[in-house]
Amino acid sequence: MVADLMDKIVSLAKRRGFVFPSAEIYGGLSGVWDYGPLGVLLKNNIKDAWWKAMVQERDDVEGLDSAILTHPTVLKASGHVDTFADALVECKQCHLRFRADEIGDACPECGGREFTEPRMFNTMFKTYFGPVEEEAAIVYLRPETAQGIFVNFLNVLNTTRRKLPFGIAQIGKAFRNEITTGNFIFRDREFEQMELEYFVKPGTDEEYHRYWAQERLNWYIRYGLRAENLRLRALEPEELAHYSKATVELEYRFPWGWSELEGIANRTDYDLRRHSEFSGKDLTYYDEETGQHIIPYVIEPSAGVDRVTLAFMLDAYDEEPDKEGIRVVLRFHPAIAPIKVAVLPLSKREPLIRVAKEIHRELRKYWVVDYDETQSIGRRYRRQDEIGTPYCVTVDFQTLEDNAVTIRDRDTMAQVRVPIPELRAALAERLNAG
Ligand code: GAP
Repeated sequence: MVADLMDKIVSLAKRRGFVFPSAEIYGGLSGVWDYGPLGVLLKNNIKDAWWKAMVQERDDVEGLDSAILTHPTVLKASGHVDTFADALVECKQCHLRFRADEIGDACPECGGREFTEPRMFNTMFKTYFGPVEEEAAIVYLRPETAQGIFVNFLNVLNTTRRKLPFGIAQIGKAFRNEITTGNFIFRDREFEQMELEYFVKPGTDEEYHRYWAQERLNWYIRYGLRAENLRLRALEPEELAHYSKATVELEYRFPWGWSELEGIANRTDYDLRRHSEFSGKDLTYYDEETGQHIIPYVIEPSAGVDRVTLAFMLDAYDEEPDKEGIRVVLRFHPAIAPIKVAVLPLSKREPLIRVAKEIHRELRKYWVVDYDETQSIGRRYRRQDEIGTPYCVTVDFQTLEDNAVTIRDRDTMAQVRVPIPELRAALAERLNAG
């Protein structure tokens, strides 16, 4: 059943255009994925919901979009050049390579019990900077978006005149040459992060750490993940990253077990202090209350968009028996659903199509709205259920007489009749209610 659910999600994602293996016609690129027409909508909605809660609805957070190509000294200062490495071992029998902490007693591939000595493997991607490869400097593709925030700390502070506590939020791509990838879009080599660096006065860091762990848990529940599938787990000291004083993992009950969706770390003053040392720039904050220059502490909630997308798909997936067999439904929260409304004429008769297209043209000014006139109405409802469209609007023969349409609810399948002039308001009420 466990593998079953993952298989169903992977196949639905491919069949309906959520996620495709990257460069599939050339055999794919492992740990790299492309998001299709529905996937890009779903992922954008997740990022928008995060930005809304973390930036738009708050008065203490600014946004940022920093570069992916990263100056090598940034990552030297951050510790990534020296310590962002996994221990790699090779099975002496099948010669596959694994992370040393993943193998247990035997090779997961062939059962072999002999391995090479672990050697450290830095997982950052490098590339050449400049037109002549031999002379070019090496730069890195960022392994986390966070460093772009730290190196812009002064710029943002000076341009916004923020007072502590305040945060800087960023969403963007990150790259890690993971030794092993897997579980679909859970562990990738190219992925996206949604990160907040929240700067606080030293001494208040533990309180804000607790606050952000709870805020982040609430966000997932607000957008529809089931509370029983979420938990917070404090990491053991030996599990902590090199910059962290304490980290709480926000975990989701994936089909293979509890795994990290995001980490909420107390990074102390580690990054700003190191960047001060390496750049020679004063990255302190002047505290007017005490008249002292201090290096702020940082609380960092950091989530992976791809993992969160997978969790939303798994959590939304439902099947129920119906007269045609099994109805598959993605019960997405309306804000997360890729398509909000589908407009469906009951038949292909011209007067119905004309009205349906007119409604479609009007509603798409406000939401992502689908239009579908092919096959039976039952089949079309099922197609929309399977991709999580919360509402279908059906134009039928009676519409031509009473100028009204039906709104069908994805979850209850209940239908209500609404006059066309009131349709937009009726949908807005339903879509925003969630
Ligand atoms: N700035 C802190 C940081 O990067 P992390 O725990 O290494 O911390 C944060 O990563 C989040 O990024 C993880 O919780 C996960 O959701 C996501 N993430 C990390 N590596 C990933 C990978 N290889 N594929 C997909 N998502 C990943």
